[in-house]
Amino acid sequence: MAILPVIKMDNPVLHQKAKKVKNIDSSIQKLINDMIDTMYEIDGVGLAAPQVGVPLQVVVFQLPEDEEVTVLINPEMVKGSEDSDMMDEGCLSLPGYRGEVKRLKSVTVKGRNRQGKMIRIKGEGLLAQVLQHEIDHINGVVFVDHLESPDDLIKIEDEEEGEGSI
Ligand code: NI
Repeated sequence: MAILPVIKMDNPVLHQKAKKVKNIDSSIQKLINDMIDTMYEIDGVGLAAPQVGVPLQVVVFQLPEDEEVTVLINPEMVKGSEDSDMMDEGCLSLPGYRGEVKRLKSVTVKGRNRQGKMIRIKGEGLLAQVLQHEIDHINGVVFVDHLESPDDLIKIEDEEEGEGSI
């Protein structure tokens, strides 16, 4: 168990495509455990490995209504709805700021769980938003990239650090 430092927006690891995981070995299991501990510690909804400086395709997330954490290795979007919504969004790598990001209303994602089994997740609303945000991280894209201008970022003064961010 370890709490890992979450890197910030100026770190190049957040802007490069992460590598696929070839073997889900003990080092990957340890990374997953540490990512879960870190996400819980900072009250995040989701965390992608590049955010802890590891350029691998591993994400974890747990929505407020979820009883368990979901682990996705090498996630890929296989389907997306035609319609989208503007959604309020924040990232653990940019604490204190939020912005309105256009996200597909529903998506289907496939990937492997930590046992290596191929799984598919279909989500809408917050789940669809989290899946899109995390797959963006895997592809070196951050939510700020979706804003027309950095001026569209909104500074949050009184929010607990990380709370509700992805
Ligand atoms: Ni993020």
